[in-house]
Amino acid sequence: MKIYKLKTEEDASKKASEIIIKTIKNKEDCVLGLATGSTPLKTYQFLIDAYKNKKIDFSKVAAVNLDEYKGLSKDDPNSYSYFMDKHLFNQINIKNTNIPDGMEKDPVKACNTYQKTLNNLGPVDLQILGIGLNGHIGFNEPGTDFNEETHLVSLSKSTISANRRFFLKEEDVPKFAYTMGIKTIMKSKTILLIATGKNKKEILKESLTGPVTTNVPASILQTHENVIVIGDSESLEWYED
Ligand code: GLP
Repeated sequence: MKIYKLKTEEDASKKASEIIIKTIKNKEDCVLGLATGSTPLKTYQFLIDAYKNKKIDFSKVAAVNLDEYKGLSKDDPNSYSYFMDKHLFNQINIKNTNIPDGMEKDPVKACNTYQKTLNNLGPVDLQILGIGLNGHIGFNEPGTDFNEETHLVSLSKSTISANRRFFLKEEDVPKFAYTMGIKTIMKSKTILLIATGKNKKEILKESLTGPVTTNVPASILQTHENVIVIGDSESLEWYED
């Protein structure tokens, strides 16, 4: 595991974007695994800047996203599909983007369809991950079997309350989501975990140095042979280079 402790969130995002750009330069038709949440926003902005400055071409890249809320459509400003279009896809020249279908009511169908897409594209070359306050990755909540593939998740109380800030009313926050499973995430050739800010400090430390347990989904990353962790001076306060 390679850990980069950068000073600020801006520095961390810059570093993350450089790793993504390098991956695309080395393999123009690479498969990028992408994440939502506030953490990768600045990283995506650096990618957009690089594209606008003609430093990178996304035309052959395939993107697969980790997750989507069940019941939210692509046009819903709180859906992850909308988020990705707004914060990245609509501002670069990417063509092949994939995300679970939140409007598919049949979970078996939604999950099988997405898993087929993931299997067809092959292992992800570089998977970007954020981390939830309870250690979730994608929407793989504590207790999820490490062998799960794409599945329907009943979101935990902690996740629902963390997501509350994006919705007008508590009852509007979705209770279910479709997520890529940990098994697929772990098949990625390289995993890039980004965590910034002091509220991620404890869970990041527990995930990277504590026991590997389904109670802390991100702890499985300790067993992957090619993980890069990027944090800032707050999230990695406990870490000495
Ligand atoms: C959501 C997403 C995760 C993300 C997490 C952390 O639960 N499904 O992929 O990592 O939020 O979000 P944030 O980056 O806003 O802290």
